Amino acid sequence: MTYQTLLFDIHDGVAFVTINRPDKLNALNDQVMAELADAVERITTAPEIRGAIITGAGPKAFIAGADIGDLSRQGPFDGKARAMRGQGVLRRLETCGKPVIAAVNGYALGGGCELAMACHLRLASDAAKFGQPEVKLGIAPGYGGTQRLPRLVGKGVALQLILSGEMIDAQEAYRIGLVNKVVPPGDLLAESEKLMRGILAMAPLAVRLCLEAVDQGIEMTLDEGLLLEANHFGLLAATHDMKEGTTAFLEKRPPRFEGR
Ligand code: COA
Repeated sequence: MTYQTLLFDIHDGVAFVTINRPDKLNALNDQVMAELADAVERITTAPEIRGAIITGAGPKAFIAGADIGDLSRQGPFDGKARAMRGQGVLRRLETCGKPVIAAVNGYALGGGCELAMACHLRLASDAAKFGQPEVKLGIAPGYGGTQRLPRLVGKGVALQLILSGEMIDAQEAYRIGLVNKVVPPGDLLAESEKLMRGILAMAPLAVRLCLEAVDQGIEMTLDEGLLLEANHFGLLAATHDMKEGTTAFLEKRPPRFEGR
């Protein structure tokens, strides 16, 4: 698929995806979502891609939400279908098995905040703003906001944001645990890539199973989650990377992991 609303570049194993509708603050219309679905599939399945960084084009917005023009025309059934399609794309991204970082360069509202939350880590420029303003439009979050926000920041703070529709700045997002780090705007992509390169220097299968254990385990009872963790721990003992990682430590040399 050739993209008209996304930029998609691969540099040394990292896919850089830029939502590219700056005149509409990168709002997620149906075309963006269709192209994003294709991009997520590429990230998931292409062996040469080992991680992804998602950002927005232009100086103002990461993504200012779902396209309100599209939403204004929807009825109950296509509305539900749109929500389920978007949720599916974001869930596929979240479970792609490779690290994904949101580099939040400006407004991350509605679907933008939801896309950022489906990424594994979030770096924000200090100009970024976050919010779930759907109630101001007579709708509710539809791409996972009511589910991922309370998991990230707790029920009380999530409800405060969702029910008020209020926007918060990057420092407040950091304070409540919505973002991992706040950096100057000019450093955002370089810092995101540095974080990604650090993760990609680790053992890839271990990283993959950590992502899976946290994603699946958070929905399990503690006992089920601990069993999943023990199974992963045992499985990794069968890998070259565990032998190499532990041997390299004991031999006081850097490890040479497979697939890096
Ligand atoms: N859907 C469709 N178009 C959008 C949009 C969205 N979610 N967010 C911004 N745009 C468009 C605007 O309509 C405008 O288009 P125009 O130039 O053709 O009129 C353009 O992007 C620039 O936005 P503008 O509102 O002029 O910028 P601003 O700096 O004055 O305000 C925001 C920025 C983010 C505060 C404001 O655009 C906004 O509130 N957007 C909607 C946010 C939202 O409710 N998102 C959740 C949707 S579920």
